[in-house]
Amino acid sequence: MAAIRVAVAGPNGTLGPPVIKHLVKQGFQVTLLSRDPDKASKQYPPPTKAISADYTSVEQLTEILQQNGPFDCLIILINRDQLEPQIKLIDAAIAAGVPHIVPSSFGIDSSSPEVHDLPQIQGKMKMEKYLLGKANEGLVSFTGINTGLFFDWALEVAGIPINLKGGPTFLADGGGVALSVSTLDLIGQAVAQAIHKRDEARNRFLFVHSAVVTQKQLLQYAQEIAPDRDFPIVEVDTEKAAAEAREKMQRGETGMMVAMPLLMRVSFGLGLGLFKKVDNEFLGLDVMSEDDVKALVAKYVNKKW
Ligand SMILES: NC(=O)c1ccc[n+]([C@@H]2O[C@H](COP(=O)([O-])OP(=O)(O)OC[C@H]3O[C@@H](n4cnc5c(N)ncnc54)[C@H](OP(=O)(O)O)[C@@H]3O)[C@@H](O)[C@H]2O)c1
Repeated sequence: MAAIRVAVAGPNGTLGPPVIKHLVKQGFQVTLLSRDPDKASKQYPPPTKAISADYTSVEQLTEILQQNGPFDCLIILINRDQLEPQIKLIDAAIAAGVPHIVPSSFGIDSSSPEVHDLPQIQGKMKMEKYLLGKANEGLVSFTGINTGLFFDWALEVAGIPINLKGGPTFLADGGGVALSVSTLDLIGQAVAQAIHKRDEARNRFLFVHSAVVTQKQLLQYAQEIAPDRDFPIVEVDTEKAAAEAREKMQRGETGMMVAMPLLMRVSFGLGLGLFKKVDNEFLGLDVMSEDDVKALVAKYVNKKW
């Protein structure tokens, strides 16, 4: 059987390594579209091929997809705040006859109004609405994958749901609220599997997670792993913090940190960071055991920052 041909846009970010690793491992023929193809070529050796993408022009993107295709699927890993390049890429994929798109969703379930209105995901909402419109017109199909919080990335980079880097953990509403989290590796597997199953997963959003965790449970593991260390906490009442954030925003304050309490409110306070139903079984993805979660926490507790 011929290899499935995929184009991956935005390979030089967080999701490039795990997604491309699993695509290659599963025998896909992978072409990377990047603003920095030299960097991509160094990171991803042949048979993966990296080509230069100019996101200012739909025509050029279309030409690139036509000249290097035909592709069975386009996977978009572009930063969610960059709406224009994603819209141009969707238009180019349609013009070039790419039949299926995996958009840069990879987050929280946005079906509830509280999540839908979050300032942090307004770009993503617009992108998904645009793609859905094109799919409804029958011009292309898509499979969106929502993953909850990126687990290992968040422990290492963001210091959430708990901070193992020395600073305080902002413990939301007592820290006992359950949250869906996914490791980068699981997300890579999910993308590859979703493309294999794209006929069944056509025009759907899938939900996957590696584990369901609470802040309290993760802090307890950290304390067990390093009993002599102090893991400071700052208690946060998410309802109060969200109200203060809204006031600040009404006064014209902007920025990621200003809006952060709103994200904490929906994820923790309202419990909307937990997926009620996941598609792990459909995609053949494992859920982490308690020991797996402890081992991951230990990796970052023991890391020299
Ligand atoms: N749920 C979570 O916890 C979580 C956490 C982080 C990210 N995410 C999601 O994961 C996805 C990828 O995010 P990320 O953090 O990996 O993003 P990122 O590392 O900031 O960027 C990914 C890639 O986007 C491309 N890109 C950036 N700016 C661009 C522009 N102006 N025009 C065209 N391409 C541009 C770049 O690719 P090239 O340099 O190769 O061109 C970059 O490597 C997003 O959907 C994001 O929402 C979710």
